[in-house]
Amino acid sequence: MNGKRRGLSVFALGVVCAVIGAFAFTLIYFKWGHPPVATADKPFPFEAEIVKLPLGARIHGELVKAPFPDSAEVNLDGAMVYKDQCAMCHGVPGEDVAFAKHMFPVAPQLFKKHGKNNVVGVSDDEVGETYWKVKNGIRLTGMPAFKDVLTDEEMWDVSQLLKNADQPMSTAVKGTLTK
Ligand code: HEC
Repeated sequence: MNGKRRGLSVFALGVVCAVIGAFAFTLIYFKWGHPPVATADKPFPFEAEIVKLPLGARIHGELVKAPFPDSAEVNLDGAMVYKDQCAMCHGVPGEDVAFAKHMFPVAPQLFKKHGKNNVVGVSDDEVGETYWKVKNGIRLTGMPAFKDVLTDEEMWDVSQLLKNADQPMSTAVKGTLTK
């Protein structure tokens, strides 16, 4: 065997050993390394960032525009949907859900100001992004997929409502959300 061929064989053996080693390490870690499996466990390093990257890319690729414009009626219909299907996890204006903070990931309060620029809930997201999340849900979180639960119109109504969460609310919408 000449020197070059021997070098290649040693390299190939190195690659095989590295693959087997990585596989064994992963197996040992998952079986005995106590990775986070409880909701109350601390997250993996960069867990949120790693999960958000493919989700953002998928939503961006499938983003659609609202089929009808926003109106007082749309917001009121959205408030009814929200109260029935979303409030139990995401809360209503001025009222949080006790267990929401103890989910992993937490179910955010969608009528609370956070961050900079007076953002309330997801009011800074495109309405199509919220619609995508409502329709398809977010895997491995408590966020359900509503495509077989709500009509398309209802999913747009509630998405429009959340887009307007940073705007003053009509008495009818407020009354529906908090009754
Ligand atoms: C069983 C609890 C539960 C219900 C019911 C629920 N959600 Fe969620 N939702 C969650 C959780 C948990 C998350 C956080 C997911 C994450 O961080 O990736 C979430 C995330 C979201 C987000 C993304 C928030 C963000 O900051 O990007 C939106 C928008 C949303 N939900 C809207 C709704 C709407 C609208 C409804 C009702 C039609 C609803 N959810 C019903 C648990 C719920």
